[in-house]
Amino acid sequence: MSKLLLRGRVLTFVDEPKSIDDQSAYSYFEDGAVLVENGKVVEAGEYAALSGIPQAEVVDHRPHLILPGFIDTHLHFPQTQAIASYGAQLMEWLNTYIFVEEQKFSSSAHADFIAGRFMDELLRNGTTSAVAYCAVHRTSVDAYFAAAEKRNMLMIGGKVMMDRNAPDALRDTPQSGYDDTKALIAKWHGRGRAHYAISPRFAITSTPEQMELSRALVSEHPECYVQTHLSENKDEIAFATSLYPSAKDYTDIYAGYGLLGSRTLLGHCIFLSDREISALAETGSVAVFCPTSNLFLGSGLFDRDRFNRLGARTAVATDVGGGTSFSMLETMSEAYKVLHVQGQRLSPFASYYMMTLGNARALGLEDRIGSLHAGADADITILDSRAKPAMELRMRTATTLAEELFILQTMGDDRSVAEVYVAGKPMKRGLDRPQAESPRSRSIAELQTA
Ligand code: GUN
Ligand code: ZN
Repeated sequence: MSKLLLRGRVLTFVDEPKSIDDQSAYSYFEDGAVLVENGKVVEAGEYAALSGIPQAEVVDHRPHLILPGFIDTHLHFPQTQAIASYGAQLMEWLNTYIFVEEQKFSSSAHADFIAGRFMDELLRNGTTSAVAYCAVHRTSVDAYFAAAEKRNMLMIGGKVMMDRNAPDALRDTPQSGYDDTKALIAKWHGRGRAHYAISPRFAITSTPEQMELSRALVSEHPECYVQTHLSENKDEIAFATSLYPSAKDYTDIYAGYGLLGSRTLLGHCIFLSDREISALAETGSVAVFCPTSNLFLGSGLFDRDRFNRLGARTAVATDVGGGTSFSMLETMSEAYKVLHVQGQRLSPFASYYMMTLGNARALGLEDRIGSLHAGADADITILDSRAKPAMELRMRTATTLAEELFILQTMGDDRSVAEVYVAGKPMKRGLDRPQAESPRSRSIAELQTA
């Protein structure tokens, strides 16, 4: 495979910035370049030092920024067409919109169509890896990983397990959830760039029998991730703890079934006690901050400082379709506001760290993704700080990199992503016009009579 030299302003992190002035946390090359060969980063550095490489095709992205591809650590692929569903908090929203939408995924044609559009939407927004819930149906997982494989994306996902408090058409059984998950792990985990996440949806939709079999899956497959939801909404917490009366609190339900650990991702974690956060810290579990979703569903404010103080790991995510945007830039813009209103300050450098190396570390994948070190997978996002007229005008007054990053985060969206590379291959061109002949998604009634 030929060598590619991407020229532009290169920014990549080596550690979490301790302050806005902490230049030791990142490398920045104003006239920089990234040399890519066979889908891997060979080196990132000064253009002058890399420009003499023979037979390298130079792609000039100046004046844009070159960053590692963004990573999204929690979203729902079957909710792609349910974003912006009006007027309900978590439990009502699930029952009114989401449990209706997810039934459409019994159709593998529908799952295939949405999986393709979902991956394209991630790429359009500069996100090259993500962790997603699929639907309860096995075929939805096949659709998800097949669409990722087609694009050679490093993706993590799994079949949601749910055997109660959901419509009949969305319920599995403890045994079928276990069997389907085993079969899907055998089929997909470690195939190409795919990783499996064992996915009991949350304590409310799993019986103790299903939680017990989730424990079995986790101990039989320690190589897989675990994802679930925790402490998102006050009514949810009351319902979940009423279903498991012997647990000390919501977190203790998952702890009691051996589901906490360094590969466990817990969405939301808004109302945890210090005891619960300490339990996450002790087990290395990751609390996932989903700012647009937490605001949209009226759930509450994630208290990042408290997790830091108690030594618990955190990550950041869109949580589409509770989340309102596929863009990690827009997500960090809302994260900034959620923290600001609590008197916490998120610096632009900390934001870009979180979207890249921070989320890679949360997944234990920092050797592969999240930074542009030699040997990393060449998943790269090219950002245009002047993508919209208002941004261009604002950028005329910007004088520092920190200011530019903050403008990009606050005003940017998919239009700010000029290009995205997956394992060294440019992907964004060609995505900008979704095909008109793509099937319209059908209603449940239509699917039932099809
Ligand atoms: N809790 C259980 N399922 C879900 C979901 O699909 N979205 C959100 N935001 N919370 C959940
Ligand atoms: Zn979620």
